[in-house]
Amino acid sequence: MPDFSDQFRQEFNQLLRWRRDVRSFRKDPIEGAILERCFATFNLAPSVGLSEPWRVVSITSKTARNNAVANFEAENTDALKGYSGEKAKLYSSLKLSGMNDAPVQLAVYCDDKTGKGQGLGASSMPETKRYSVVAAITQFWLTARAEGLGVGWVSILDPVRMSRDLNVPKDWALIAYLCVGWPEENKTVPTLEQAGWEKRSKTLERLER
Ligand SMILES: Cc1cc2nc3c(=O)[nH]c(=O)nc-3n(C[C@H](O)[C@H](O)[C@H](O)COP(=O)(O)O)c2cc1C
Repeated sequence: MPDFSDQFRQEFNQLLRWRRDVRSFRKDPIEGAILERCFATFNLAPSVGLSEPWRVVSITSKTARNNAVANFEAENTDALKGYSGEKAKLYSSLKLSGMNDAPVQLAVYCDDKTGKGQGLGASSMPETKRYSVVAAITQFWLTARAEGLGVGWVSILDPVRMSRDLNVPKDWALIAYLCVGWPEENKTVPTLEQAGWEKRSKTLERLER
């Protein structure tokens, strides 16, 4: 294993600080080689029983993109109904997806019934397959950021509608819809904190038992 330097550790920490969920993108395309380097990190991720249950669908056609936007808009309108007064006003001012401009869009699924790994580690907690996909997404996110790209995670979606629209196998569960592209701006403060919606905790809550 390489002897990681202090400088690397500092830079890695900077990467975490600058990661951010990005929702505003420039429309310039992303070079294929850069994307390939990002995708390659999926297969370096931890997964329960080495099941590697991630399945990535690139959303490229106009129809699939329009369906995804319509799905988001319907669910976002519905979500707004859960707030009232000032909170509703603030919610409706938030930009909660970059689906209208991200050059690369990915629906990331978990193959809940994959035979790979032969069920090891997942017998009492089958949901660990989905956790494995989240872990892989995090690696992809950081790798993309290290390339200067931004990634935005969209979850305000009807997963059943999306799976039907994309015609994916019935055992696949939607984990994330990712918008990827060159960020309009880079910052260290989360957009939701900047907008006054929520604050990031400064300390980790730790318990001892
Ligand atoms: C599971 C998950 C789902 C998310 N869904 C959305 C979403 O639908 N729309 C959105 O704008 N941001 C979404 N986010 C981004 C969060 O709002 C963001 O991570 C959080 O505000 C902290 O900001 P940061 O990622 O810039 O640190 C999601 C993040 C995660 C991890």
